[in-house]
Amino acid sequence: MVKKNKINRIGIITGGGDCPGLNAVIRGVTKPAQDYGMNVFGIIDGFEGLVEGKAKELNNKDVSGILAQGGTILGSSNKGDPFHWPVIKEGKIEVVDKSENALRNYRTWGLDAIIAIGGDGTMHICNKLGKMGMNIVGVPKTIDNDLEATDLTFGHDSAVFVVSDALDRLHTTASSHHRVIVVEVMGRYAGWIALNGGLSGGADIILIPEIPFSWDKVYQKINERELMGKRFSLVCVAEGAKPKDGTIVIKGTDKKRTDPVQLGGVGELVAKNIEKNTHRETRVTVLGHLQRGGSPTPFDRILATKFGAFAIELAAEKKFGRMVALKGSEVKNVKIEDAISRQKLVQPNNQAVRTARAIGISFGE
Ligand code: F6P
Repeated sequence: MVKKNKINRIGIITGGGDCPGLNAVIRGVTKPAQDYGMNVFGIIDGFEGLVEGKAKELNNKDVSGILAQGGTILGSSNKGDPFHWPVIKEGKIEVVDKSENALRNYRTWGLDAIIAIGGDGTMHICNKLGKMGMNIVGVPKTIDNDLEATDLTFGHDSAVFVVSDALDRLHTTASSHHRVIVVEVMGRYAGWIALNGGLSGGADIILIPEIPFSWDKVYQKINERELMGKRFSLVCVAEGAKPKDGTIVIKGTDKKRTDPVQLGGVGELVAKNIEKNTHRETRVTVLGHLQRGGSPTPFDRILATKFGAFAIELAAEKKFGRMVALKGSEVKNVKIEDAISRQKLVQPNNQAVRTARAIGISFGE
């Protein structure tokens, strides 16, 4: 059955860092498209493809069997912001505006709308492209779970699963060797992955950006555990965590990225200071991109599929400038403009934090 509509050709793009569940969204958009009388055009390598004119038709065959596949079959990039396009001139990186190229390709391809799957960076770009005349429907994704407008983003549960599994494994080796093991996890400026991963993996100390920690309280917790006969400790530290009197640890900067700052290294610092000040043998594990790779959890597969199918419904109804969002247990839609106004951070007194404190987990406060 072909439903009556005037939207014939819909682009789909995956922007920013990848995460488990992107393919489930692509499938969730492409499979119902026929019913709406639409064809789907996959834009390659995120906004790079929109600026440089790289895209291909997507049909049911292309999306068959990709539900459980990690990454994105379309490719992605966090360096392709059309409004901040890096070019190398005389050996130096210069930033230019390529948004007119993006608009030209949108028109040349005959697109009626684009479904853009991405995090806050992607939604900022979408908001600006919308103002230039493109019809956009946003789908939020990020392992960091830091988008205010949605209760959850797909990818987060899969990342938490990796952290939880890693902590389970590190628990046995830490306890056998009577060591402290520090696990550094991703999340940028938000502590959701460390908090939820640490809670589910039984960390003894969780350090998050929203609760700057005191070094002495961290050492105290490890020493207290030792006095209680617990000769090992697990510390789950978010990459954006910082001590009360210190700053965030930055691995480097790259002007070509949409967000030039690369976080990383706090795990090493925490491990070094713990060993020096508690005299306990300490090791560090940085989980890095393991948290972004691989198959999505069942929860993320379902959420991503719901997001995809709802996004094409919104496009068919011409509800542009909107982003799908989970509100409670329902998928709703919000204005993209409102979705990017605020980052969702862990409230230092939220239920998960209170629960963690109640069972004796230290935040180094
Ligand atoms: O936003 C997702 C994320 O994985 C962050 O948690 C992390 O800081 C960043 O991306 C890493 O980005 P990249 O893969 O570009 O180094």
